[in-house]
Amino acid sequence: MNSAITLVTGASGELGQSLIEALAERGIPVLATDIRPLPPALSRRCYRAVLGDISDPELHTQLLQVGFERVFHLAAILSSQAEREPELAHRVNVEGTFRLLQTTYRMAKRLGKPIRFLFPSSIAVYGLPSLEEKRRARKVREDQYLTPMTIYGATKLYGELLGLYYARFYRRLAPEPEAGWIEFCALRFPGLLSAFTLPQGGTSDYGPEMIHAAAQGKPYRCFVRPDTRIPFMAMPDAVRALLLLTEAEPSALRRHAYNVGAFSLSAEEIAAEVRHLFPEAQISFEPDLQRQAIVDTWPEDVDDTAARQDWGWHPDYDRHRTFHEYLAVNIRRRYRSPVP
Ligand SMILES: NC(=O)c1ccc[n+]([C@@H]2O[C@H](COP(=O)([O-])OP(=O)(O)OC[C@H]3O[C@@H](n4cnc5c(N)ncnc54)[C@H](O)[C@@H]3O)[C@@H](O)[C@H]2O)c1
Repeated sequence: MNSAITLVTGASGELGQSLIEALAERGIPVLATDIRPLPPALSRRCYRAVLGDISDPELHTQLLQVGFERVFHLAAILSSQAEREPELAHRVNVEGTFRLLQTTYRMAKRLGKPIRFLFPSSIAVYGLPSLEEKRRARKVREDQYLTPMTIYGATKLYGELLGLYYARFYRRLAPEPEAGWIEFCALRFPGLLSAFTLPQGGTSDYGPEMIHAAAQGKPYRCFVRPDTRIPFMAMPDAVRALLLLTEAEPSALRRHAYNVGAFSLSAEEIAAEVRHLFPEAQISFEPDLQRQAIVDTWPEDVDDTAARQDWGWHPDYDRHRTFHEYLAVNIRRRYRSPVP
C-alpha cells in the first residue's frame, strides 16, 4: 500500500481504532475524523485528527483543506441505535455518505487520479422473510434477500448504491484516469468481535458483550434466544479484509459489494465458548422482542466465494483461533482476569 494520506471517518469507533493502528504500523499517514474525540494515544499516531459531524459541510471543507488520496468511510449509526433514532441514522448513514462521496469526487478531480473509497456495509442489508427461510437459505449470496427490515440495513444498502452511482456515473463523465473518479467498494461484514473495544448500538453486540462481561466477572443477560445464529468475524480479520481490498487491482473487482465470512455461531455456542474460557461465567437468556426480530432477519451465514475468487479473501481466524488465541489472551490481559 503506498503511503498516501488516508482518510478514516468513524475513527473513534471499534473498527476505526483497530484500522488506524494497522495503518500507522504500515507508516500510512492517517487523516482521522469522528464526532467523538479519538483516544489521545491513537490521535498521536495520526497525521491529523479533525473533530466534526460527517453530515456538516464545514467538516468537509476542512477535510479538503488537508487533502487525502484514499478513504475508509466507517462513520455510522449502528442497528439498535438506528432503530431508536431513525432520523439521526438517516442523517449520518445517508446524508453523511452522500456528502463524503461528493467531497471525494472533488478531491479526485483536484488530484487528477482515481481515489479508492471503501465502505463497511453489513449483513443487515439482508432481510430473510421468516425463520424457516433463514434456516433453509443458510449461506446467502450478495444478490439475494436484499429487503432489509431495519433503517440501519436500508441506509447501508442505499450507501452501497450511492457509491456504485458515483463510481459509474462520474467515470462515464471522465473516461481518462487523469480526470479523477471514485473506485468504490463495499464489504458486507458480519458481527465483529474485538478484544480491545466494547461495541455500542449494534444488534450483534451480544457476542462480544458476553465474553467481555465474563472476563470482568459480571453476569450477562443475552438479549436473543440461544438458537439465534448469525456469522461473526474477529476484528483483525475485518481490518485485514479492508486492507486486502484496498490493494486489489481495480480490474479484478467485479462487484461493488462483497460478502466476507469467517464462521457462523449460535448464541448458545458463543455461551459455550465463553464458559469454556471463563468457567465462572453467569450467562442467562432473556430475549428482547425487538432486537430478536432484527437478528431473525439476518442470514445464518454468508457465501463469500466472490471475495475469495476476485481478491483472495480468506479469514485467518476461525472459531477456535478467535476464541482461544485472539479473545482469550487479549481480554484476560485487558481485565487482568486469571487463567483457569
Ligand atoms: N461492529 C460491527 O459488528 C459491524 C458489523 C458490520 C458493519 N459494521 C460497520 O463498520 C463501521 C464501523 O463500525 P464500528 O463497529 O466501528 O461502530 P462504532 O459505533 O464503534 O463506530 C462508529 C463511529 O462513527 C462515529 N459517528 C457517529 N455519528 C457520527 C457523525 N454524525 N459524524 C461523524 N462520526 C460519527 C461514532 O462516534 C463512532 O466512533 C460502520 O459503518 C458499521 O456500519 C460494523
